[in-house]
Amino acid sequence: MWNPDLYRQFQAERDRPFFDLVGQLPDLSPAHVTDLGCGTAHQTAALARRWPQAEVSGVDSSAEMLSQAPKLANLGLMQADLRNWTPAEAPDLLISNAALQWVPGHDRLIPRLADLVAADGVFAFQVPGNFTAPSHLLLGALRSEPRWQARLGPPERGPESLPSLDPLDYADLLTPLGFRVNAWETTYLHLLHGEDAVLNWVRGTALRPVLSRLSGEEAAEFEAEYGRRLRQAYPQGPSGTAFAFRRVFVVAQRT
Ligand SMILES: C[S@@+](CC[C@H](N)C(=O)[O-])C[C@H]1O[C@@H](n2cnc3c(N)ncnc32)[C@H](O)[C@@H]1O
Repeated sequence: MWNPDLYRQFQAERDRPFFDLVGQLPDLSPAHVTDLGCGTAHQTAALARRWPQAEVSGVDSSAEMLSQAPKLANLGLMQADLRNWTPAEAPDLLISNAALQWVPGHDRLIPRLADLVAADGVFAFQVPGNFTAPSHLLLGALRSEPRWQARLGPPERGPESLPSLDPLDYADLLTPLGFRVNAWETTYLHLLHGEDAVLNWVRGTALRPVLSRLSGEEAAEFEAEYGRRLRQAYPQGPSGTAFAFRRVFVVAQRT
């Protein structure tokens, strides 16, 4: 279950890559726009305001996230799994921010999603590329310890299979499908404030599926130990807690 309040704690930092992605879109006057894994759809709403003549839709599997969506005349919402979603009308812009990486083996899904895009349309997405950062490695190491592995089972993936690819890999996937690809990466330096800032960040995302499988008492214990390790890895400095976050971006236009 997604928790919109936890997720929104770092709204500005989480929104920035979405708007950096949108900043690289070619000139478009779309009739149909879809945001896959739209979450609370406030970013989708920004697209609806930008193109008031377009029918804009947000697709997400979480009712909790969708319940927070703004109401706009040209913004529609659909609770669906993006893995088998099909549009009524081919989108001129199919966009996805920080969502595709939640689908195991999402690279196998990309050709199908790309195929849904209208002629001359654009498929644009951003995925985190920080799966070897200390925040993820420490979480993986803790949950692999015998006590926690007995409760949580083996990790869903080994260190050799990361949930997202490098920019060139996405370009190599999409170019042969008839797309002109602009792919790049950015490492943001988030300067977070307050105690346990990195723990608070991860509570809204990667820690969520782990804690949801533990009892209340176990979850508190797991979180306390993870928090202790995070404080060592990400000490507070004079500018706050430096949290480097790599992200991978793709804007692919049908040729
Ligand atoms: C990290 S949030 C990003 C939300 C929004 N795009 C943003 O940037 O604020 C990931 C979203 O993907 C959704 N999601 C994950 N797997 C999904 C799936 N298979 N189908 C549809 N939505 C999915 C989650 O429900 C969640 O709202």
